[in-house]
Amino acid sequence: MRLEGHASPEVVSSRLGWTPYDVYMEPAKYIWMDGAQVPWDEANVHVLTHALHYGTGVFEGIRAYEAEGGTAVFRLREHMERLHRSCKAYRMDLDWSVDQLRDATKQLLAANELESGYVRPLVYLGLGAFGLDPAGSSIHTSIISFRLGAYLGEDGIANGITTKVSSWRRFSHDAFPNAKATGTYINSVLAKMEAVKNGYDEAILLNADGAISEGSGENLFLVQGGVVYTPPISAGCLDGITRQSVMTLLGDDGHTIREKTIHRSDLYYCDELFMTGTAAEVTPIREVDDRAVGDGKPGPITKRAQQLFADAVGGKLSKYSEWLDYV
Ligand SMILES: Cc1ncc(COP(=O)(O)O)c(C=O)c1O
Repeated sequence: MRLEGHASPEVVSSRLGWTPYDVYMEPAKYIWMDGAQVPWDEANVHVLTHALHYGTGVFEGIRAYEAEGGTAVFRLREHMERLHRSCKAYRMDLDWSVDQLRDATKQLLAANELESGYVRPLVYLGLGAFGLDPAGSSIHTSIISFRLGAYLGEDGIANGITTKVSSWRRFSHDAFPNAKATGTYINSVLAKMEAVKNGYDEAILLNADGAISEGSGENLFLVQGGVVYTPPISAGCLDGITRQSVMTLLGDDGHTIREKTIHRSDLYYCDELFMTGTAAEVTPIREVDDRAVGDGKPGPITKRAQQLFADAVGGKLSKYSEWLDYV
């Protein structure tokens, strides 16, 4: 899958058969690299970059929203803290503090004149070592920002997406640390390609025990009898910041939320299913393994989660104002 920054959205979408802007990377003016804003086209790396060969990078996905009161980055501090934890797991000495990365992000969004968009911080090992022991490799930090629409499509947000349980299993946290590392995403890429090739919007991955873990880039929630369930992090899923936010929002709204082991057939009999993620936001699932979820339309708790999330990111809920970092 080639997604050149300069291909038009129409070209990208016709390759994928998706609507424009779902995954299109609209070039912005600058990319932040190791402390400086460099022009988009000059933000390049050497082919011997260690991370290119061995996946030795960690990253984040963050969104900025046009909120009441201006452009606000959603849970920027928590994302940069998770980036620091991922670095620790992979023993990468990150030169930049959480606050420095927050400032750099906000300055970049301003320089790129983005009122809203996606932010992708990336820490990776560069030149120095050829072998698997990365000692001696340089370490680099970059932050990219660009405009991004609904990751799973506007229709997916409104009416729900179709999903299929993948033939690929999610790796457990004793194979890789619970962190957001570039190398591990090749597992998600396999699952996503399989799902899309077979006509589904998204994959759902089981873990090695056969329990539900998560989507290729999203956490999963299930509603049954008015109770909201989600797999525990020990099911091999990422400790999603949208997951935590939605659990807080729905919990404060009076809903019961439980972490529990979820099995494949639970997906067939539940009332509602939805996915959460920075890119996917709150996306209803209308079909799993060719079976309608509930009546095949987004259910009331899913819609409530969408509304609460939209209000929180939009700065309409003063209770959660500390979640917003204004540019
Ligand atoms: C594998 C995976 N699970 C879950 C998520 C959701 O995490 P978050 O809500 O922090 O974006 C993501 C997205 O980053 C992801 O890539």
